[in-house]
Amino acid sequence: MAGSDPKLTAKLVLPNSKEVVLPVTVGTEDEHAIDIRNLRQETGFVTLDNGYMNTGSTASAITYLDGEQGILRYRGYPIEELAERSNFVETSYLLIKGELPTSAEREVFGRMLTRHSLIHEDMHQFFAGYPPTSHPMAVLSAMVTSLSAYYPDCLDRNAPVDLHITRLLSKVRTIAAFSYKKSIGQPLIYPKNSLNYCGNFLHMMFAVPSEEYEVSPVLEKALNQLLILHADHEQNCSTSTVRMVGSSGANVYAAIAAGILALWGPLHGGANQAVIEMLEEIRASGGDFKRFLDDVKNKRDNRRLMGFGHRVYKNYDPRAKILKKMCDEVLAHLGIKDPLLDLAKGMEEIALRDDYFVSKKLYPNVDFYSGIIYRAMGIPTNMFTVMFALGRLPGWIAHWKEMVDDKDTKIGRPRQIYTGQRLRKYVPIEQRP
Ligand code: ACO
Repeated sequence: MAGSDPKLTAKLVLPNSKEVVLPVTVGTEDEHAIDIRNLRQETGFVTLDNGYMNTGSTASAITYLDGEQGILRYRGYPIEELAERSNFVETSYLLIKGELPTSAEREVFGRMLTRHSLIHEDMHQFFAGYPPTSHPMAVLSAMVTSLSAYYPDCLDRNAPVDLHITRLLSKVRTIAAFSYKKSIGQPLIYPKNSLNYCGNFLHMMFAVPSEEYEVSPVLEKALNQLLILHADHEQNCSTSTVRMVGSSGANVYAAIAAGILALWGPLHGGANQAVIEMLEEIRASGGDFKRFLDDVKNKRDNRRLMGFGHRVYKNYDPRAKILKKMCDEVLAHLGIKDPLLDLAKGMEEIALRDDYFVSKKLYPNVDFYSGIIYRAMGIPTNMFTVMFALGRLPGWIAHWKEMVDDKDTKIGRPRQIYTGQRLRKYVPIEQRP
């Protein structure tokens, strides 16, 4: 079991030769952490760790990730098995509640998600207020914050949270689809209770009132798998943001909206959009991807091979492996031949043999192939990060809940090392040079 092991300690020798003995905490998968909680109090020193490369911000029982071995497990279950055998609703339950549901529990959970899929009619007007150029992530984050205005009991920190969690899981899907419909000028399509979670989303995205829409089982399965693969990834940038914002006592909608905004960046969830834009740019300029890779290696204009590299995975990202296979299957089923897929495969093949990428341990990540699948499904490029947010939602919620339920939680408040001016006197404007 995880916890502090009294037999294990670490010794730190400070510049004044003072020695401090620090406890060591061991995780269930034998990960070791030096516990510095009392360091500043006892010594006056803080630690400095740019980008939190070595800092564990919390203990967590949700997701296990071993970047060297390429292992990812939710609540102990391998990602490969969940992607193959589970569905997104069940995986969400697992992440949030800690165990796979019984069939009765799954039925109740699914029914709750179906019942809470509508958003307040007044909120429809918000969509109308956005210009057509709006990025759907801007709309999504604002709408999720707005949900707190419609369910003000979320401000009571002692009120039950299950209903808010259900609302989030169900309504974010509706908001995502509505923001797309709005951006293309089509009427909003209301959720349909006879459809399951992913089928309902596809229906809201692609149905029009004038025609029947039949959900393709292949696309529904692909969407389930895509969302499962994105559902959690322990203390990444957006999840840490959710925990940080939530640690101040802000309501769950505010914390999740903050996570959505953190995800938006191209170094995080925005990478799936950036991959397609990169591939399109290469294709438009003649398809010479070798030249592009040379530019990347020479750091020309700070170029990066988007969809490659990961802070934690220094082997293959297990999600990318599943997605590459899925990509071939979905495109074959739809009878689509996407030149961007050939480009991506060509670049991957070369990069995996190139010393620059090999020596820096840069491999395809979850975003390298996901965009090509979304494209084939008919989802536009600027919606890719919204799809990521939809998938990551149960992970954010699980972490928010774990943080709130943990009696050891403290408001997130890192220290710094100040490098600015020392004390100086105010100079009146007429005396300034
Ligand atoms: N292409 C080219 N070079 C790269 C790449 C890349 N994709 N990623 C890292 N490098 C290089 C850096 O230039 C740096 O080189 P240097 O040592 O010569 O300075 C070295 O590898 C280490 O890079 P860092 O940025 O320090 O590594 P870090 O762990 O901080 O970054 C990150 C991880 C942000 C994911 C990075 O690999 C990257 O920018 N990848 C492209 C964007 C991307 O695909 N993001 C999605 C990540 S997955 C997710 O969030 C869902």
